[in-house]
Amino acid sequence: MAEFRVEKRGAVEVWTIDGEARRNSISRAMLSELAGHVARVSAPGGTRVVVITGAGEQAFCAGADLKERAGMSPDEVRAFLDLLRKTFRAIELSDCVFIAAINGAALGGGTELALACDLRVGGSKGSMGLTEVKLGIIPGGGGTQRLSRLLGPGRAKELILTGRRINAAEALELGLVDRGGQLDAAVALGEEIAANAPIAVAAAKHAIDEGLSLGLDDALALEQVHYAKTLGTEDRLEGLKAFAEKRPPKFQGR
Ligand code: COA
Repeated sequence: MAEFRVEKRGAVEVWTIDGEARRNSISRAMLSELAGHVARVSAPGGTRVVVITGAGEQAFCAGADLKERAGMSPDEVRAFLDLLRKTFRAIELSDCVFIAAINGAALGGGTELALACDLRVGGSKGSMGLTEVKLGIIPGGGGTQRLSRLLGPGRAKELILTGRRINAAEALELGLVDRGGQLDAAVALGEEIAANAPIAVAAAKHAIDEGLSLGLDDALALEQVHYAKTLGTEDRLEGLKAFAEKRPPKFQGR
């Protein structure tokens, strides 16, 4: 059985984690399918924007599938985490833009999945949190690193060391969620991004992500490198032509 429902909404692909009975938690089968979908859209000519959400109204993703985890050996857990880390990193390294539409609880790996996405849109329901220390482990899908980059070390430590769950309003106020809204709002945001020049959007995404770990001078040099990728493109010329002709541009991704 497919672990995701995949549908096209305009230029945006929506992936719904289809495991409502286990609150869309990350099983081995779900993770392996997620890895496959990420690889598919990251291939040249793949989908430009993906929105990830969860089935039902209770959860975006309740983290690791704890029932499955109870029967796994330490080696199996290590292998699972290895694929989890690689898959979340592949989301960041992809030219495709990923938006998490957080429709309910996003806990542990659910919050980490949202953190690996480029943007997070959250409804008014559900809680978020990196609750792993309450289970005797620490975030294993990049949560310690991505949350501290997003919110700063103080707020990240407060959330991770307490394992506290915060509600949707707090997540928005902290900046863990970028904007309030439901799936439709996430798709609309995706459409707005997908209307822009594909090579430019990907270059801007990577310039921001890669620059975060650099000093300002190196980061500005990096921006130049990514800018250069757009210079020889037909889309840059189309942007100028459309401006002169007072019409919307038609970008081809080349
Ligand atoms: N793994 C496997 N099954 C899970 C799960 C998880 N992470 N989270 C929830 N489920 C299952 C429950 O065991 C329950 O199954 P059952 O019907 O066989 O008893 C079913 O999903 C519904 O759970 P319930 O708690 O009744 O749903 P809810 O809508 O009231 O609450 C959550 C949803 C996500 C807030 C709540 O289930 C929860 O807190 N889950 C644990 C999250 C967690 O700690 N994740 C790991 C972080 S490291």
